[in-house]
Amino acid sequence: MIILGIDTSCDDTCISVLEVKNKKFNFISNIISSQVKLHAKYGGVYPFLAKREHQKNLPVVLKKALKQTKLALNKSQGVDYIAVTVGPGLEPCLWQGINFAKDLAEKLKKSLISINHIEAHILANFVGEKSQIPSAKSQLFPAICLVVSGGHTQLILMKGIGKYKLIGETRDDAAGECFDKVAKILGLGYPGGPAIDAEAATLNLKPLTLNLRLPRPMIYQKNYDFSFSGLKTAVLYDFRSRSPKIQKSKIYIQEMAAEVQQAIIDVLIYKTIKAAKDFRVKSIILGGGVAANDELRKQFMSIVKCQMLNVKFFVPPKNLCTDNAAMVAATAYFHQKTAAKDLKKIKANANLKI
Ligand code: KG4
Ligand code: ZN
Repeated sequence: MIILGIDTSCDDTCISVLEVKNKKFNFISNIISSQVKLHAKYGGVYPFLAKREHQKNLPVVLKKALKQTKLALNKSQGVDYIAVTVGPGLEPCLWQGINFAKDLAEKLKKSLISINHIEAHILANFVGEKSQIPSAKSQLFPAICLVVSGGHTQLILMKGIGKYKLIGETRDDAAGECFDKVAKILGLGYPGGPAIDAEAATLNLKPLTLNLRLPRPMIYQKNYDFSFSGLKTAVLYDFRSRSPKIQKSKIYIQEMAAEVQQAIIDVLIYKTIKAAKDFRVKSIILGGGVAANDELRKQFMSIVKCQMLNVKFFVPPKNLCTDNAAMVAATAYFHQKTAAKDLKKIKANANLKI
């Protein structure tokens, strides 16, 4: 079976062709056209600018994706299904991908599968050479999923594929948003997550000199919610209290990057492990752009090992943590029953819930 996935939920134009064979998902092409350089100038994503770029990029990205697969895209052969992200995301961007997918589905006389972007971030864990498609026998569930991206920070109890219950989420900024905003304060550019990750890594093995200490918001509260906007404000206040010389110094930027990253990691890990214990889960599953963070990955793995939690730990390869369409195509495999021939019913839903 071959599924073509499309994602334009934010600022990346993504098209992937996925083959499902021998109980495995193998992407035969996974093209991402990033708009980072364009949005970097503004320090964040401008939805209508992003929409215009998607419009320009989609035909080019499709051509590239198909060239890699050597697939002849016509009515009788080529792909079996087309899948497209319908939400959550930026509404004008979502519509651009949906309308493109509808045109393609009509032209090829294929049905279209609507995909939830959050579910796709979770199922990204099962794409790739080393992964098996989970089955009823896999003994993975219940699982606790932590989805951490630029728009979301959610803890989800997963009883099986398609069976999700949101148990906690951020009350204000998402973890990725906090990385991005702090990076802007420190003059590190957009997107902030990879920049902070890199700055913090330069501190490895060096003694800290400034002794910066930020809060760990809501860490010990008896719920599974998060809050990151206060953390960003704490960084801003500290930054403003420093002299211009310190603000621009390498050591301040590196130590602040490391401290804010550690504050975010501490809260994410503490609350996820608490949920894993409370719900006696068999797996912990990470997903979303922030899951590409090196320290978060390392510290999660070592805590699962040290605490002998007896859970399986999943995190996608880094290139499948950030937005991509391989995860969209993989999710579609589980939702073939919802494939629609009546394309009018398929609509964007910017606030789609899991
Ligand atoms: O999942 P994603 O690509 O898009 C959304 O669905 O939002 O996530 C993007 C977010 C951005 O906020 C970006 O700064 C963050 O993921 N991110 C990272 C890293 N790579 C991307 N955050 C921390 N460390 C990273 N290495
Ligand atoms: Zn995403």
